[in-house]
Amino acid sequence: MLTFPDGFLWGAATAAHQIEGNNINSNWWVHEHEAGTNIVEPSGDAMDSYHRYREDMQLLADAGLNTYRFSIEWARIEPERGIVSRAEVDHYRRMVDTAHELGLNPVVTLMHFTVPRWFERDGFWRAKDAADLFARYTELTLPIVGEGVEHVCTINEPNIAAMLAGGEDAANLVAYGLPNPDLFVADALLESHKRSREVLSQVSGLKSGWTIATQAFRSNGEPGSDEMLREYGYPRDDWYLEQSAGDDFLGVQAYTRTFIGPKGPLPVEDGVETTLTGWEFYPPAAAEGMRSAWELSGGVPIMITENGIATSDDTRRIDYTDGALRELHACIQDGIQLEGYLHWSALDNYEWASGFRPTFGLIAVDRETFVRTPKPSLAWLGNVAKANGLTE
Ligand code: BGC
Repeated sequence: MLTFPDGFLWGAATAAHQIEGNNINSNWWVHEHEAGTNIVEPSGDAMDSYHRYREDMQLLADAGLNTYRFSIEWARIEPERGIVSRAEVDHYRRMVDTAHELGLNPVVTLMHFTVPRWFERDGFWRAKDAADLFARYTELTLPIVGEGVEHVCTINEPNIAAMLAGGEDAANLVAYGLPNPDLFVADALLESHKRSREVLSQVSGLKSGWTIATQAFRSNGEPGSDEMLREYGYPRDDWYLEQSAGDDFLGVQAYTRTFIGPKGPLPVEDGVETTLTGWEFYPPAAAEGMRSAWELSGGVPIMITENGIATSDDTRRIDYTDGALRELHACIQDGIQLEGYLHWSALDNYEWASGFRPTFGLIAVDRETFVRTPKPSLAWLGNVAKANGLTE
């Protein structure tokens, strides 16, 4: 047996805007409905998980998982600047309570890409008071995360958020050819993360950190590619891992790798297996991200907060996850502290600018009836969780 540490968190992850539906006060909803948008379709009802979260959690718990990562939607808590919805605070508190009732540890994300439309209108992450506003929002979430939540992710993938703020189109959520990051926004996200952690530190026993999309950038060995690797990779990945030093944990989210030549990132070579997002099928991505996160953060405990593939062939999802977990186990053997593995994603969902086509879920969802159908990969991962390991 390849056994994982005692108390290991085995779970699946989601994000509010991608599954809840009708998140009408968020900036994404606005962009989805702009004339000439590059977003292929609007999120609409999404998976209607706003109403069906208990069923979603029940399926994960029944399969054998012990953890569910979900996000709170700032635009619901504070739909207008300074206007707080107590009813929505209660809604998310009920989600935390439901997770406990079903035997799931809730891992809660405060901001998963989307912000209230008023926050974007008033200057977005470039506004002078952006970090104050995020700290104030964090305070509003204390009734939700202040009891019974051990892990809070402040900001999801600030590195991707800074790239999306870099001015290019939002359709570019892919490893190959990522936009230039807006470094001012990167600093504002870091400041917001720190301020949010300060607020959360009032809660005893709560661990806070952020989650970083590690891209496994690799030089292709041509002259000049090592220099380009540093120039391209440092502001997109490594800087954020370094800035995580001192946090309670660090979320690593990994999917694929990207080769860098002397002129920049290279497309996946012909003949290499790719997924529905066009990314290379590359199971070692999570372990490689984990190794660099551990090294650059100076030994902050890691949680894999996202890892998975978009595919219509569920056997490839199982193969991918099996490969990823074997490599992660080897990292643990090497002394790297890993607290959990959260698969992306619990459900097929709204994959941002690509719409509903790329299916990352362990559970399929009929978009008209909202009927959930677990895929074999959910039972497979649940069995790994129950055994707390894999057979060698
Ligand atoms: C994000 C998710 C997204 C996933 C697959 C991560 O960048 O946190 O929201 O769906 O990767 O693209």
